[in-house]
Order: sequence, then C-alpha cells, then structure tokens
Amino acid sequence: MKRIGVLTSGGDAPGMNACIRAVVRVGLSYGVEVMGIRHGLIGLMNGEMDPMDRGSVSNIIHLGGTMLHTGRSPEFRTKEGRKQALKVLEQTSLDGLILIGGEGTFRGGSALMDEGYPHILGVPATIDNDVSGTDYSIGFDTAVNTALEAIDRIRDTALSLERIFFVEVMGRKSGFIALESGVAGGADELVVPEVPESVDEICERLEASFKRVKRNAIVVISEGNRPGEAFRIARKVKERSGIDSRVVILGHVQRGGSPTARDRVLASRLGAGAVEALVHGREGELVGEVRGDVELTPLREAWSRKKELNIALADLLETLSK
Ligand code: F6P
Repeated sequence: MKRIGVLTSGGDAPGMNACIRAVVRVGLSYGVEVMGIRHGLIGLMNGEMDPMDRGSVSNIIHLGGTMLHTGRSPEFRTKEGRKQALKVLEQTSLDGLILIGGEGTFRGGSALMDEGYPHILGVPATIDNDVSGTDYSIGFDTAVNTALEAIDRIRDTALSLERIFFVEVMGRKSGFIALESGVAGGADELVVPEVPESVDEICERLEASFKRVKRNAIVVISEGNRPGEAFRIARKVKERSGIDSRVVILGHVQRGGSPTARDRVLASRLGAGAVEALVHGREGELVGEVRGDVELTPLREAWSRKKELNIALADLLETLSK
C-alpha cells in the first residue's frame, strides 16, 4: 500500500478534523502517502487533491467543520459522475480511499465499489448518528451537548414565564439527537419519527400534566425530514387546546463548534482504525465503535440496515417526566 486518499462528504460534523489528523498521521507512520481530497465526492470527481504531511494537520484537533471542506453531490449519484471518479482514482494511483461521512456518502462508496473500485473504508461522521455498524458516529456527542445547552437555557425562561416551549433539533429521518438531549435536558415530551404519535395524544398529556402541577414544559421535537415541524405542532396544539407556546429551531447551530472530548477520541480511534484496516488488506467496510471496541461491518450495511432507536430510553423519558 503506497498511497491512499481521504475525504469528508455530506453534512459536516464536529470531529471530522480530528479524524483527518488521525488518518494522515497513522498513514504516514505506516509509510503510506496520504492525499487529502477537497470538497468530498465532487472533489474526487474533479481530482482536487494534494499530499498531506504531519504539519498540514497541526492544530486542527479542536476545530469544528472540516479542513478538507465537504459537499453534497447530485452528480456523483449518476453513473457518468462515478465513471469520472473511477478515472481519477486510476490516474492518481490511489490504493485505498477513506470516506468520512454519513449514510449518503457510504451509499456513494458502495456504488463505486460495485462499479470497479473496491478499496474503500468508511468512517461514520454525522451528527444524526443514523449509521448502522457503530454505536456512535463522530459529531453526535457534540451536537447533543450543543442542543442540551440550549435546552437548559430555554428552561430558565420557560420557568420564569410559565410557558411551553417546542424545541426542534436536527436528525433528518432519525430521533437520536432528540432522544439523548431530551433525556439529558429533562424534557416533558419527545416527538421522534421512530415513534408515531398524534398531536391529540401530545395535547392530552400536556393538558393532564398542567391540570396536576405543571406550569411549564419543554417538548423536544426531531425535525424528521420536515424542518419547521415544531411550528406545525405548536399551531395544532394551540388550535386544539388553546395552549400558547414558543418555538425554537436549533438548526445548523448543532453542526458547528469545537468537538467534545468524546468525539475527538472517537474520531482519532476510527481514523486510525480505517488506515490500519486498509494496510491489512481489508476493504468495503465501515470502521465503527461497538460496545467500546473498534469493529468492521460491511459498508453496505451502514446505510441499508436501519439503526434502531433505543425505545426503552424513550419510555424512560416519559416515566421521568410525569
Ligand atoms: O445530516 C446532517 C444534517 O445536519 C441533518 O440533521 C439535517 O437534516 C441536514 O443535515 C441539513 O442539511 P443541509 O446542511 O444540507 O441543509
């Protein structure tokens, strides 16, 4: 193994830089040249890459975002786009490719494998944590803590003015951020795509708890593929129960900021694990952390197998909020 490439693709996640640093430094320690590919899969198609040395990843471990930039690439979803990427991989003699990203990135990686380039290792990095084959993805812990800090602040004003707040967090098709930040923030209600619930049910519970003792409430809502969902729910609650509320959409704030210690350690372990796997001849796999150990799973499973939300934890939230 002489030369490998590394890129970050899809939504950026805090800890991506720590992962790039690990890939570069562990790669160099094995005597492998590491090419940094800019702008994700689009950059791969365009051959945007340069060799990286130890110094090129100095002082980035604490930075959010990604020094290699990222992108969402509709072109890569076409056969022509991937053909172009395969041409670049051949011209640049890359013996391996490390993709740091989420579901969409690994879908693209699997297509590239099917079409003739098998030497791919994936590293899960998405705040959504919706990748199978790893308990946690890089960036999730930071995003949860960012959401939690906001929920704690909102609680101060919710208490003072005795109000209901609907707080919308990111997560696209999954409720992982909502569940963790909801439990940690002592939320009263949780709305996630994995647990279908009607606004009527939410209203009934809110009305009952306000009748008993409550004077304020925090409802954590996962955007669930429909950013702005919290406004729709708040409006329906007002129509049905006459309850006035405020809505806060945390949005992209959750994607930025310095990664937590947990994310930096995870990123370092998984980045190193990806290089080691490639050097030892593994390919077509995802490097994840499962029950504390670094483990490999077929890349295809990372995006085709649905990662289950911990429903017992959602039940606990409900019990604790009564
Ligand atoms: O996949 C990460 C994520 O932040 C999702 O939680 C969110 O739905 C989406 O990206 C937003 O994408 P964009 O930055 O392209 O608006």
